[in-house]
Amino acid sequence: MTYRFSGFVAAGAIIAAGGPALAQTEVKIGYALAPDSHYGVAAQKFEEVVTEQTGDAFEFNHFPSSGLGGEREVIEGLQIGTIEATIVSSGTLANFVPDTGVFDIPFLFRDLEHARAVLDGEIGQEILAKFDNVGLHGLAWGEQGFRHITNNRNPIETPADVEGLKIRTMENPVHQAAFNAMGAAPTPMAWPEVISSLQQGVIDGQENPLSVIVSVKLDEVQEYLTLSGHVYSPAMLLVSKPFWDGLTDEQKEAFETAADEAVTAMRGFVDEVETTGVETLKERGMQVNELSAEQKAQFQDEISSAYEGYYETYGQDLVDSIVNVE
Ligand code: PAF
Repeated sequence: MTYRFSGFVAAGAIIAAGGPALAQTEVKIGYALAPDSHYGVAAQKFEEVVTEQTGDAFEFNHFPSSGLGGEREVIEGLQIGTIEATIVSSGTLANFVPDTGVFDIPFLFRDLEHARAVLDGEIGQEILAKFDNVGLHGLAWGEQGFRHITNNRNPIETPADVEGLKIRTMENPVHQAAFNAMGAAPTPMAWPEVISSLQQGVIDGQENPLSVIVSVKLDEVQEYLTLSGHVYSPAMLLVSKPFWDGLTDEQKEAFETAADEAVTAMRGFVDEVETTGVETLKERGMQVNELSAEQKAQFQDEISSAYEGYYETYGQDLVDSIVNVE
């Protein structure tokens, strides 16, 4: 496995060893987080299983930590066939397949089990299949966990505490609508700009799951963590459609098995960090506050005005059928 942190590598450099490299197909896999994150662990498992099943047919080159750019740019690279694979959040997925936005609705999922049942079930798989219409192939839904708010301005206990808060959101209209409803000042921004914007005070805060907060060491640039769990954060293992169409049936099967195992590894990692992450962040000096059920209900009430728009976009029937999945 090779890690590269920025830019593309000339093909000549890859075959410099002079061996049978020409027979190998390169799989450039890009993701926003470090090799020891839930994305990195999943990407390594993906490579491992593909290699076990196909021998040396594929050479994987990993580009962690946004080495190929922001998530939107990477997905566009997949569409034109310059990048083969990625693991991404749902941040910009709705720009490619609008229906994915339904999973970004705040307070939609009860817990991780509920979310996994929906994504692995009929509703999730139908939406996954739509990526084939836009130059992509969705192999499997992964996840990051539930998103929480971090900031440098003040501890957050009630919706009044987020009033006017300059909070970075993903470039995702569903999330932006929720923070507008709460009276915050949401600032959509690609991930690679977030840390420097926090350091320079361009934004007060951001929101991400514990998996990201711990892995990126957001405690170094953020003082307060509020366990708002306001929205579940799905992820997806995507490959380029031109690349997918060039695989044999056996190779496709190997990639599908590998994606399932990668997702199992990713979910296992998320389960672990959901248990240990808060303690880790407290030890690193973050001021953490949990929300009581009543406090959480206040946030839910505040966001309820955004639900009208969500129903209009996605249909109340679909939202209800997700809520009703056991
Ligand atoms: O906040 C985001 O943009 C995403 O959660 C991240 C950190 C890029 C992981 O996909």
